[in-house]
Amino acid sequence: MKKGVVILFALSLVFIAAIAGGADKVSLPRGYEKWEKSKQKVVNDKKSLFYGIHYIYADKKAMPVYKGGGKYPEGCRFVVDYYNIREEGGKPTLGKKNMVVLMKKDKKYKDTGGWLFAGFTPDGKPSSVDPVKNCYECHLKEARDTDLVISKYADFK
Ligand code: HEC
Repeated sequence: MKKGVVILFALSLVFIAAIAGGADKVSLPRGYEKWEKSKQKVVNDKKSLFYGIHYIYADKKAMPVYKGGGKYPEGCRFVVDYYNIREEGGKPTLGKKNMVVLMKKDKKYKDTGGWLFAGFTPDGKPSSVDPVKNCYECHLKEARDTDLVISKYADFK
């Protein structure tokens, strides 16, 4: 009997750990590199937070609104890959990847306008960011009228 209680207790701990760990477990969407991709974007201003080269990826669900405007549908996603700049004969070329960010439309995330905001290391591990202070506030300022999406589809052509 006693042994049964111990096992039950151990099992419930595993269960709680699984829930606690699962709540915020966010990973990068698999295969996002195959989504529609923007032109190369170069930010030359060394004072900018985004100094470097980046590419934006938008999934199939996001595309119609990205092109035509409106509210983004639940579940749609954007990813941005950020790279260092390597100066080569005065021409900026792609250096090492330094950061990846994700936005996913998910109504659970009420504090950030119904979008999940997440940051990742170059190898895809979640990095600790405060989604409100580090992401949402700027996106709200820049893109209140476009459902918090700042970039434009024009960047893809
Ligand atoms: C200081 C302002 C600022 C902050 C802070 C910021 N972003 Fe952005 N974000 C931008 C800008 C500007 C773009 C558009 C880039 C472009 O057009 O090339 C962008 C684009 C994006 C995109 C592509 C979709 C879109 O809105 O165009 C994603 C995804 C994204 N950011 C996620 C994040 C995440 C996650 C964080 C927090 C870790 C974050 N951003 C923090 C300014 C910001």
